[in-house]
Amino acid sequence: MRIVEHPILGKLEKKKKIKLWVNGRQLEAYENEPIAAALANTGLKVFHRTQELNEPRGIFCAIGRCTDCVMIVDGQPNVRTCVTPAKNGMRIQTQKGLGKWSVKK
Ligand code: FES
Repeated sequence: MRIVEHPILGKLEKKKKIKLWVNGRQLEAYENEPIAAALANTGLKVFHRTQELNEPRGIFCAIGRCTDCVMIVDGQPNVRTCVTPAKNGMRIQTQKGLGKWSVKK
């Protein structure tokens, strides 16, 4: 199942197919569709786990407000995948807790 209309991103048309790497597994997506939509289409429901109780979280609001869909995208933690467009070759990981931040020097 794919999201065809999004409250923030608008009407989503089928576009060019791209490849994403999710937890080391290659998946197909459409360019610029929300990452969360692409992952939901594959059946993935757990996007991150809470800091203290390790509880699973996934798509909840789907409009960028709740942070339940945050993941590590290309090394950047806390990316709201429901409002982040998918790009070819992105490397996406399930996030545990607050995620580890790295500082570029
Ligand atoms: S699902 Fe709520 S911010 Fe993405």
